[in-house]
Amino acid sequence: MTESPQVITIDGPAASGKSTIGKLVAERLGFVYLDTGAMYRAVTLAALQRGVDTNDAMAVSDIARHVRLDLRTPTLEEADGRQYTVLLDGEDVTWEIRAPRVDRHVSAVAAHGGVREAMVAQQQRIGQQGAVVMVGRDIGTVVMPDAPLKIYLDASLEERAHRRYLEAVARGERLDYEQLLAAMRKRDAYDGSRDHSPMRAAADAIQLSSTGLSISEVVDAVLVLAAERLRRPVTG
Ligand code: DC
Repeated sequence: MTESPQVITIDGPAASGKSTIGKLVAERLGFVYLDTGAMYRAVTLAALQRGVDTNDAMAVSDIARHVRLDLRTPTLEEADGRQYTVLLDGEDVTWEIRAPRVDRHVSAVAAHGGVREAMVAQQQRIGQQGAVVMVGRDIGTVVMPDAPLKIYLDASLEERAHRRYLEAVARGERLDYEQLLAAMRKRDAYDGSRDHSPMRAAADAIQLSSTGLSISEVVDAVLVLAAERLRRPVTG
């Protein structure tokens, strides 16, 4: 029997804290961190750059199959508060994929079956190498269903919108909280009801709510679970 690779999956809605928690857990365990949302965002940016209608499933899927995506640890020169560097056909798009226009189109792009197929294949290749914390919407259900530890992280809509609002303010952006709340509600509904791999918790996922908890409390909870569920690394 082959053992399933050492992978921790963290799924959940936007601003549930999964990227922050995932990155910290990966650092503590010496694992690779992969934010799969960044991959869907990069494909969205590629479509927008080419002037392709993001509702055109064929055209966008074709882009997803042909772009070169690379997510890696930032070099010293790149360190500007980023969690990782995203390269799209060799170009650094780490911040561009966070732009509001990408936010507006990414759900449509991520709903195309052809796009998901291309992304999932890449994610599974990375997952098979093991020692990875993988964050997204369908990682526990579709990408790595045999992962030994699957987390579904959630928080109330209001708390998530509030976090995004504070992040934007910290970056010097002006946003309307009510609009942000409405956009987030819409994106949740869209991601959770699409035909291909809708966002949901795997039946065997451990559900955690980050509402009212500090980052370190959630990280500690995941690390306790990791110590129980993951094989001890072979040493010596
Ligand atoms: O986590 P995020 O906000 O960066 O994700 C961007 C979009 O990508 C989001 O609308 C849902 C989609 N997504 C997905 O469908 N599957 C994943 N594994 C990760 C993200």
